[in-house]
Amino acid sequence: MAAKLMVGNWKMNGSLAANASLLSEVLAGMGGKTCRAAVCVPAPYLAQAQALLAGSALALGAQDVSAHEAGAYTGEVSADMLRDFAVRYCIVGHSERRQYHGESDVTVASKAQRALAAGITPIVCVGESLAERDAGQTEAVVKRQLAAVIHTNGHCISEIVVAYEPVWAIGTGLTATPEQAQHVHAVLRAQLQAATAHADRVSILYGGSMNAANAADLLAQPDVDGGLIGGAALKASEFLTMLKAASR
Ligand code: PGA
Repeated sequence: MAAKLMVGNWKMNGSLAANASLLSEVLAGMGGKTCRAAVCVPAPYLAQAQALLAGSALALGAQDVSAHEAGAYTGEVSADMLRDFAVRYCIVGHSERRQYHGESDVTVASKAQRALAAGITPIVCVGESLAERDAGQTEAVVKRQLAAVIHTNGHCISEIVVAYEPVWAIGTGLTATPEQAQHVHAVLRAQLQAATAHADRVSILYGGSMNAANAADLLAQPDVDGGLIGGAALKASEFLTMLKAASR
């Protein structure tokens, strides 16, 4: 398995000034880190981040992409547009998109397909709600979400990244225990193995209140290949501590 992959998801946070200071602090502290790292910034800041990250070890990511190729889709951003800014990763199917923007499994699968066609690695988010976990449906939910992406993307599936983000853990301070995370990651790994001979290329990230205090224990699990980090990625020192934990 490749080096761990740590991805900051800034969500709808930032400003030109705040981004410049956050990125300069992170870049200054990154020397010697051996994990892979990226930040997914709001679309209006892609050009700024592209310029600041040029030539660095911190890759650029976006938070969403249109399921359509081009045309009359007001407000949407296409995969080709993201590629113009040297975007390497794009989150698709984040639970906030599924919940607040009604994104279905089929839409998420199309978004992953658009990203792949543009040479961008989709970070496909899956995860159960608290009600679904309590009802014993965790495995069924994440498998259904991933199955849609596998179905649409066929042999390209080895080129994606998966992020397991239990909805109840996002932004709540509640984290899945390392054992809970490992259990679901192993389920997802097995599903990928059944779909492709190259499942070992797919990094499976954990996300949901990952922070400097809990990252090392989560990352120590055999099937946790990295993290998708929201709130804690907005503080340079905390993000750097997590990159360090992932570089061991
Ligand atoms: P959080 O967000 O780390 O703030 O819980 C993670 C995510 O939603 O990607």
